[in-house]
Amino acid sequence: MHSPFVFALVNEVLRTRTPRSTTAGVEALRAELLNSKDLVEVMDLGAGSRRDNAPKRRVADIARTALKPRRQAEQLGRLAAYFKPNTVLELGTSLGITTLHLAQAAPWAEVHTIEGSPAIAAIASGHFRRMQASNIRMHTGSFTDQLPAVLGKMGRLDLAYIDGHHAAAPTLDYFGQCLAKAHGGSVFILDDIHWSDGMEEAWEAVKAHPRVTVTIDLFHHGLVFLRTGRQKQHFVLRY
Ligand SMILES: C[S@@+](CC[C@H](N)C(=O)[O-])C[C@H]1O[C@@H](n2cnc3c(N)ncnc32)[C@H](O)[C@@H]1O
Repeated sequence: MHSPFVFALVNEVLRTRTPRSTTAGVEALRAELLNSKDLVEVMDLGAGSRRDNAPKRRVADIARTALKPRRQAEQLGRLAAYFKPNTVLELGTSLGITTLHLAQAAPWAEVHTIEGSPAIAAIASGHFRRMQASNIRMHTGSFTDQLPAVLGKMGRLDLAYIDGHHAAAPTLDYFGQCLAKAHGGSVFILDDIHWSDGMEEAWEAVKAHPRVTVTIDLFHHGLVFLRTGRQKQHFVLRY
């Protein structure tokens, strides 16, 4: 590996593990959700789930199928702690588990998160209050409606995590909007880059974007960097 930047990232973040005690609180909440008997009204604004598109879903099923598993959620937290963003934007809050991982790993950051399903967003907001995550700003509504306003209020965007509406055109649209607020030190994390042909197409287009200089394909996530003054380099890492 010829990039000291990527070498350090791999050794200090990607190949390490988060001490379990650090994320015990959020993960206890996940465990509770996995056992929940509650039903919630779901408004599907994205590409849907391959398993269940019922308008009312069990919270436990959402927790089981829609959320990033612990290991990946912890990796997101380590990335946030490593890059020290002042502003974080998450597209796709769901029940708020990854939002909490990001917000707790970077407690100094203002973490904006957008969720289109109002009942799910209300549950997530309750979780943020309960976990006293006062650095999270919840925005309820479609990405199309909310994103321009949220970005408009943000000076610069340091870290963006795109985890919703897994189709090519919308993903590229949201990425493009976020780019307008991004800078050479910004980090983008795209979820499920190999989930469908559409997401493969989106990932290839992101890699080819003239402002993108370094990408790291971690299979579940794609990391995107805009660091200036270097040739394009694309890495594929599997653990
Ligand atoms: C995969 S889940 C997010 C999981 C969460 N990041 C986690 O791992 O803890 C994606 C969420 O994005 C929301 N979503 C999808 N498309 C959307 C859109 N176009 N506008 C707003 N919300 C959307 C869905 O309602 C869903 O709750």
